Amino acid sequence: AEVVIVRDQEEAGALVAGAIVDLITRKPDAVLGLATGSTPLATYRALANRIAADGVDVRGVRGFALDEYVGLPAGHPESYRAVITREVVEPLGLTPELIRVPNGDPDGIEHAGADYEAAITAAGGVDIQILGIGRTGHIGFNEPGSSLASLTRVKTLTEPTRIDNARFFDSIDQVPMHCMTQGIGTILRARHLTLLAFGEAKADAIAAAVEGPVSANQPGSAIQLHPHTTVLVDEAAASKLQ
Ligand code: F6R
Repeated sequence: AEVVIVRDQEEAGALVAGAIVDLITRKPDAVLGLATGSTPLATYRALANRIAADGVDVRGVRGFALDEYVGLPAGHPESYRAVITREVVEPLGLTPELIRVPNGDPDGIEHAGADYEAAITAAGGVDIQILGIGRTGHIGFNEPGSSLASLTRVKTLTEPTRIDNARFFDSIDQVPMHCMTQGIGTILRARHLTLLAFGEAKADAIAAAVEGPVSANQPGSAIQLHPHTTVLVDEAAASKLQ
């Protein structure tokens, strides 16, 4: 992977936003792979600013979120459908019908994974995938032990991940136990991966992803199997790289 050390999230956001604007200019119906969580927020802000400043036509842009909680009531403000609408679709001015999020409704969960895979394939695949990484080393919600060939399916969230995500809920009891997530195999099919990480809490996960052995015990290490990966990290997240 190409590792770019940035000053801060804003600098990383500007770089990724620039790459996405170039892509949309070449391909107005580009397919974006969208992460949630805190890490990509500066990128989404930078992208919204660039789109407004340059008058980029984004009406044809398509998108696929990485994951969704299972079992939150429809319209819950912390469902990733709601987060993607609030942080991405609305500020960027994307066409809501073209932005997909995995279906976390327990009703129909048996075919939700296969449906999502089919939708990504029908769209021609993801052009650029934005990724964060968890303290546990997860990408998407593929926790340690996830097959490197996995596709979109239901997974159980680990306790450290539920603790980390409790900040978005009133208490940890409200953090769902399960999610629907793109698999590592799904993520690896995107044409360009951009992995972002900021802060010391991510340093071990970044070192394992970039320099560790490729292993299902460190899902982030799967990026080493991809021919076109850019890792954007601040000094703190880079601090355990050799
Ligand atoms: C989010 C996702 C996760 C997060 C990771 C980091 O869609 O799939 O892998 O990217 O948990 O979360 P933050 O950015 O909140 O530290």
